[in-house]
Amino acid sequence: MSDMVKGVITSISGNMISVRFKGSIVQNEVGYVVLGNERLKSEVIKIKGDLAYMQVYELTKGIKVGDPVEFTREMLSVQLGPGVLSRVYDGLQNPLNDLAEAHGFFLPRGVVLDAIDLEQTWAFTPVVKKGDVVYRGMAVGTVPEGIFKHKIMVPFNWYDEYTVESVVKAGDYNVTDEVAVLKDSRGDKHSVTMLFEWPVKIPIDAYNQKLVPVKPMSTRIRIVDTFFPVNKGGTYCIPGPFGAGKTVLQQLTSRYADVDIVIIAACGERAGEVVETLREFPKLEDPRTGKTLMERTVIICNTSSMPVAAREASVYTAATIGEYYRQMGLDVLLLADSTSRWAQAMREVSGRLEEIPGEEAFPAYLESRIAEFYERAGYVELPDGTYGSMTIGGTVSPAGGNFEEPVTQATLKVVGAFHGLSRARSDARRYPAIDPLDSWSKYSGVIPVEKVMEAHDVLRRGNEVHQMMMVVGEEGTSLEDFVVYLKGELLDSVYLQQDGFDPVAASCDVERQKYMFKVIYDILFDTFSFNNKEEARKFFNALRQLIVDWNYIPMEDDKFMEHEKLIDKHLKSAITEKAVA
Ligand SMILES: Nc1ncnc2c1ncn2[C@@H]1O[C@H](COP(=O)(O)OP(=O)(O)OP(=O)(O)O)[C@@H](O)[C@H]1O
Ligand SMILES: [Mg+2]
Repeated sequence: MSDMVKGVITSISGNMISVRFKGSIVQNEVGYVVLGNERLKSEVIKIKGDLAYMQVYELTKGIKVGDPVEFTREMLSVQLGPGVLSRVYDGLQNPLNDLAEAHGFFLPRGVVLDAIDLEQTWAFTPVVKKGDVVYRGMAVGTVPEGIFKHKIMVPFNWYDEYTVESVVKAGDYNVTDEVAVLKDSRGDKHSVTMLFEWPVKIPIDAYNQKLVPVKPMSTRIRIVDTFFPVNKGGTYCIPGPFGAGKTVLQQLTSRYADVDIVIIAACGERAGEVVETLREFPKLEDPRTGKTLMERTVIICNTSSMPVAAREASVYTAATIGEYYRQMGLDVLLLADSTSRWAQAMREVSGRLEEIPGEEAFPAYLESRIAEFYERAGYVELPDGTYGSMTIGGTVSPAGGNFEEPVTQATLKVVGAFHGLSRARSDARRYPAIDPLDSWSKYSGVIPVEKVMEAHDVLRRGNEVHQMMMVVGEEGTSLEDFVVYLKGELLDSVYLQQDGFDPVAASCDVERQKYMFKVIYDILFDTFSFNNKEEARKFFNALRQLIVDWNYIPMEDDKFMEHEKLIDKHLKSAITEKAVA
C-alpha cells in the first residue's frame, strides 16, 4: 500500500511510545512497530501535532528510538463469528486454550493467532431468500453452536438498507466462505461471510432500542434474588476485601444464573489467580446441560505479567463479545473480576502519558470510563422484534476493604445493585459474605418488595439488639428484644447464608425461594411467647438446625415434605406451650 502512513519512534517509556508520523491518523488507530520479522501491535491513544502517543500491546524489550511504525487505519477490533464460544482469549483476543499450559498462559511476543478457527466448517441454514430486505444486525442464516442457534448477521457497520441478491443453500461452510450477497441502496453488491470485525471500544448498537431492565435474572443465591436482585440487562458490583469470596460468588453465579451465555473477564493480580480460573472453570458442570459449563462460556483473561495495555483492553473485548451474542436474542452475563485491576491498568497508562492525575493517581476520566463500561449492559429490542440482554457484574477489590476509594465510588454511581462483601461475615464464614445491612438494589426481585422490606427490618432490628447486647449484656436485654435478635439470626443463618459447595444447597431456584421465604416470613412474624431467654434460645437453635438440614434436601425429594412436617411440629410445640402457659 503506497498511501500507508508511517512513522518513527521518538521516545519509549515502558509500553508507551511516541511516534513522529507523516500523513493523517486517527485516535485508537492500530499501528505496528516493525522490529525485523516481528510486528508489535500498538494503539494510538493521543495525537499531538505530528506526534502520536501509542501503547504497545506486547513486551517492548529491544525496541529503540528510530524504529519504524506502520499505521493501519483500523481500530483495535475483535473477530466475531461462530467459534468464539467456549474459547479462552487474552485481552486482545489471542486464543489461549492450546497454548495455555505449554506457554505459561503467555503468548510469545509478536505471535498472532486467529481468534476463530478458519478451517472449521459450520452447518449453515439460510433464513432469508432472494429479494428480502435486511438491515445491520439481522440474520441471513443460522449455524448450531453448542446448544444455541448462532445467527449469522449483516455486519453491524453496514448502515444501509440491503436487498438479498443471493444466499447459499443449506450446507457446511467455513467462516470465510460467502454465504450471502446483499445489494445496497445504490445497487452495489456486498459479500456476507460468517466472520466480521468490530472495534472493541465502540458499543454494538444494532438494536431498535434499549429498554428498562425489568426481568429478574435469577442466580439461585437467596440473598441476591430475594434481597438484592439483579435484572437481565442490569448492572451490579461486588466490592470486597481480599479473600472475602468475590471469585467464588462469581463462579456460583456463572453456573446458576438463568442466562444463556457467560463471559468472564478475569483480570488477576497474580498469574496464579487467573490460572486457577482457567483450571477450575472447565471442570464446572453446567446444571442445565450436564456438560461442561465452558460450552456456553467465553473467558478473557489477563494477569499483571501481561502488558498493561492488553490488560486495559480486556474488558472491552469481553463487552464486545457479549454484545455480539446479545444481538442473537440471547441473555448474556458478563462478569469482570476484578475491575480494580483494570482501573490500575488505566492508571498506569495515564501515568505514562503524564496526564494530570485525579484522586489516588487515577486519571480524571476514571469515572467516565467506568460508566461507559457499565452502560454497555442493557436489555434491548432487536431489529427482528426479539429481545436480548447483557447484564454486567463487576467485582471491585479495594485496598484494605475500604469502599471509600475512587473505583468503588465511581462504580456505585452507575450500577443498579451493590453486593458489598464484608470482612466480618467472611471471617465468621457466613457465606456468601454479602453484607445484608450495607447492600442495596434498585431492581425488584422474585418476592414482593414490601415483604422483603419487612423481613429486612427484622434483620436490622436484630442487629441493633445484638449491638446493644454487646454493651449491656444479655441480662440487660428484654426477652422481647432477645427474640427479635434470635429471629434476625435465624433469617441470616437459614436464608441469607448458603453452602456454595453443596449442589443442592448452593442452588435455590425461584420456586423454592418463594416457598421457603413464606415459611421463614411466617416465623418472623409469629408471636412466640417464651418463659425465658434460655427457652427461646433452645427453640430457635433447634429450629435453625431443622431448616439448615432442609436446605440440603432436593425439593422434588419425598423427604422434603416429610422434613417440613418436622419443622411444623417444632413450631407447633412452641405454640402449644404458649397455649398451655
Ligand atoms: N460461598 C462460599 N462458600 C464457602 N466458602 C467460601 C465461599 N466463598 C468464599 N469461600 C472461601 O473463601 C475463600 C476465598 O474466596 P475467593 O477466592 O472467592 O475470595 P476473593 O474475594 O476472590 O479473593 P481475592 O481478593 O484474593 O480475589 C475460598 O477459597 C473459600 O474457601
Ligand atoms: Mg478473587
